[in-house]
Amino acid sequence: MKAPARLRSLIDEGLIDTVVRQLMSGKEAMVFVVRCGDDTRCAKVYKEATQRSFRQAVDYTENRKVKNTRQARAMAKGTRFGRQAQEAAWQSAEVDALHRLAAAGVRVPAPYNFHDGVLLMELVTDVRGDAAPRLNDMGFTPDQARGHHQMLLRQVVRMLCAGIVHGDLSEFNILLGADGPVIIDLPQAVDAAGNNHAERMLLRDVVNLGDFFGRFAPELRDTRYGHEIWDLYRRGVLHPDVVLSGRFELPRGAIDVGSVVREIDDARAEEAARRLRMQ
Ligand SMILES: Nc1ncnc2c1ncn2[C@@H]1O[C@H](COP(=O)(O)OP(=O)(O)O)[C@@H](O)[C@H]1O
Ligand SMILES: [Mg+2]
Repeated sequence: MKAPARLRSLIDEGLIDTVVRQLMSGKEAMVFVVRCGDDTRCAKVYKEATQRSFRQAVDYTENRKVKNTRQARAMAKGTRFGRQAQEAAWQSAEVDALHRLAAAGVRVPAPYNFHDGVLLMELVTDVRGDAAPRLNDMGFTPDQARGHHQMLLRQVVRMLCAGIVHGDLSEFNILLGADGPVIIDLPQAVDAAGNNHAERMLLRDVVNLGDFFGRFAPELRDTRYGHEIWDLYRRGVLHPDVVLSGRFELPRGAIDVGSVVREIDDARAEEAARRLRMQ
């Protein structure tokens, strides 16, 4: 196909030889299959910020590290320079997370390059070598569902051990590659230690996994893996090979009013984000 404008500079730089086809136009990015020498790869082109308000509206970017205080001040004020800095920080967050997670042994596409707002990464493929389907397009036997669920919980634990919470994990952001599930779509990934919403996001990610695989193995819906994982993390005893039970007694009695108020604020922010997304 004719190369789209946003990919031309990568062709000029010799990072891409040809554009084979467009894979998907998702909520926030366009994804292309490209050829680089003998390799077939995947190019993710981020849409402009205005087409993409949802994940930034919720406080994913809280406490993200920026290069200097001038940048931080500009971002806080929302000046044009600030918005550009914010945009750049958002786009490079995914490649940063991919590098960290790949190094930690999490099943994510290998990142190759990030240039001009385009992420070049491994194309996740199925057994025939075609672009892999998303989990939501697949059906599973109860045993397959249990197996994938356990394997993905291991990935979530590994991510958290590397200090990262995905923040938008669901059957839409997991591909079924030839060797099993691969996790994608990480520009909103949050720093587990530095972001006040990290716990809530981790719990939601884990609930999403239980709900999806629970369609095929209903007992998975009643598990409490998220609380169990966060509790181990909080106590500093989480490690990649930890044995999980899926059971967790929520502490009874003492009610922390601050945390209830925070939950209400979070729910409100999320509802506002949902409405933005629907527009
Ligand atoms: N590395 C990859 N390999 C194969 N397909 C991919 C890859 N990355 C993305 N895709 C496809 O492109 C779609 C959109 O990508 P994603 O990163 O989820 O962006 P978004 O949902 O923000 O638009 C995915 O659902 C998947 O079908
Ligand atoms: Mg996605």
